[in-house]
Amino acid sequence: MTKLIFDTDPGIDDAMALLLIDASPTLDLAGITTVFGNADVDITTRNAHYLCDRFGIAAPVRRGAEAPIASPRRPSPAHVHGENGLGDVDLAGFAAPAPDGEDAADFIIRMARAHPGEISLVAVAPLTNLALALQRAPDLPDLVAEVVLMGGAFGHGPRRGNVSPVAEANIANDPEAADLVFTAGWPVTAVGLDVTMQCVLHDASAARLAAQGGDAGAFLHAISRGYADMYRRHDGFDGCAMHDAAAVLRLSDPDLFETVSGPIRVATEGIARGQTIQRPRDQSFPPGAWDGFPAQRVCSAVAPGAVERIFLDRL
Ligand code: BDR
Ligand code: CA
Repeated sequence: MTKLIFDTDPGIDDAMALLLIDASPTLDLAGITTVFGNADVDITTRNAHYLCDRFGIAAPVRRGAEAPIASPRRPSPAHVHGENGLGDVDLAGFAAPAPDGEDAADFIIRMARAHPGEISLVAVAPLTNLALALQRAPDLPDLVAEVVLMGGAFGHGPRRGNVSPVAEANIANDPEAADLVFTAGWPVTAVGLDVTMQCVLHDASAARLAAQGGDAGAFLHAISRGYADMYRRHDGFDGCAMHDAAAVLRLSDPDLFETVSGPIRVATEGIARGQTIQRPRDQSFPPGAWDGFPAQRVCSAVAPGAVERIFLDRL
């Protein structure tokens, strides 16, 4: 079993990813940490509790950062995930429990120290909690098995950005945090927008989930209708992207993906702020911003249709 902490901003595709984790026979969910992003952190934390409560997911939830480590917060995209982060479906007056005294970063540190080398972090949101944990515990990279994240875009598909021509939302929401995470001495694998835009939950599949996937399937169908409309309008999809579920599958089923290796930096200034740039390992350049940083992995391809197929099978 692979023990993981899921760092998330639920979020429609985050909800898909969490339910996929819950349905994955080889994944052992040790905790959920929340962060601002698709909505305010109070809302994303409430949503994490809601999902656990409704679907019987027995994992501790720890509230995390409400703003980036070093820059002002970007507005949350209510037009993408709804005002309530879950497609504005009625959450029936659900009230989240009061936050635990321990925040997300401290939870990550405590769990990593309690299980050295065993915990993987699957981060599908702004990387603020991971960066705060690194700042508080510089030994953290030695304690964590690996980091798999959904974020950035690396030129392996047509899409290079969704909040600017070159920046993906999770990275653009806290570029300084992302640069810390990519340059730390732990193994990172990024599943970028260029690959996750190839992972579509088609409308027919969502309808099948609604009909045959029990309460979870019906819920995912309901929350994703507006999200699918957006992808239909903007990208000509017959369905919606499964960004965060792709990162979960990179952890549970790594062979579905091809990867390339090399150090990654994040642009933190100017019009390219939030852009992720990997230096290929086998190419030499004049000395530059990538020197001295560890090679990390970027997913460069995914088996066609595999993310949707496995998602449907498991749900
Ligand atoms: C990422 O940003 C969020 O809106 C999604 O949940 C996903 O993690 C896609 O750019
Ligand atoms: Ca997310």
